Amino acid sequence: MPRSGKIAPIIHKKCAVKVETARFVDIPTIHRTAQDAFANDPLYNYLRNTPDAEPLAPGKSSTFYQRLLAYIELGYYVLYQAMLTINQGEAFVTINRPGRGKTQCAMERFIRDIMVRTATVEQRKRWTELSNKLTAATNDAFGGDLAKMLRIVDLATAPENQGKGYGYALMASANAEADKIGCASWLLSSNVANTPFYKSCGYVVVKEVLLGENNPTWMEPPFPVLIMARAASSQTWNTVGTRSSLRQ
Ligand SMILES: CC(C)(COP(=O)(O)OP(=O)(O)OC[C@H]1O[C@@H](n2cnc3c(N)ncnc32)[C@H](O)[C@@H]1OP(=O)(O)O)[C@@H](O)C(=O)NCCC(=O)NCCS
Repeated sequence: MPRSGKIAPIIHKKCAVKVETARFVDIPTIHRTAQDAFANDPLYNYLRNTPDAEPLAPGKSSTFYQRLLAYIELGYYVLYQAMLTINQGEAFVTINRPGRGKTQCAMERFIRDIMVRTATVEQRKRWTELSNKLTAATNDAFGGDLAKMLRIVDLATAPENQGKGYGYALMASANAEADKIGCASWLLSSNVANTPFYKSCGYVVVKEVLLGENNPTWMEPPFPVLIMARAASSQTWNTVGTRSSLRQ
């Protein structure tokens, strides 16, 4: 299948790499990139490595079911041309556009449902904590505008390719897509170390969510994840500390 899609491929001036719409054939590399890039991510560690999780076989970074679920989810993004990649999976970004149709929303619910069913009790508890806190924070920050925004769902560059401008190029393409639609964007930054990177891509911090509080199975201190947003071209955001709203 030729690479095509609603997101026009671009050559980013900084690194002169081609950003393309991902294809099904890219999925194994994209999965490996995600596994390696998120290996030390605070949020992924919190949600996945629970005391009741199945121990991984030596040398493996995921179980068979985790891989299968990840492939299904990545397949969904390929199907809806909502995943961009560089070099067939060395780096990728997934997006949720606003105004997705009924079938697409049903598929998202289906994928979430199998993820919940295959999760352990503690994983489910931590997902629920994230989901509740995220819903409250995004409602507070964006209110009714949330449904009209594009969401950056996942972004990763394989560790051996980081620092080459791939992340920036992917975010530039996602921003171009938001500008084409004429909407604002938001993302959940799972690692505060990435804040300067996202700021350089035009995002500001609008909310902070603390995870791991009052959880006796979590042996580390509570940690923050950040909600960051980028305005549509004609708008601006208030930053953290004030109720955020879009202003013309
Ligand atoms: C965040 C990530 C996608 C950035 O990808 P990348 O391809 O390395 O990014 P780039 O090479 O385009 O970097 C662009 C700029 O941001 C800086 N930067 C990137 N990641 C940074 C970080 N974590 N902390 C500080 N600066 C960072 C780079 O140094 C570069 O600066 P420069 O323009 O002055 O040279 C990558 O580090 C990654 O995959 N991390 C692990 C997974 C992750 O955290 N994903 C995001 C989840 S919210």
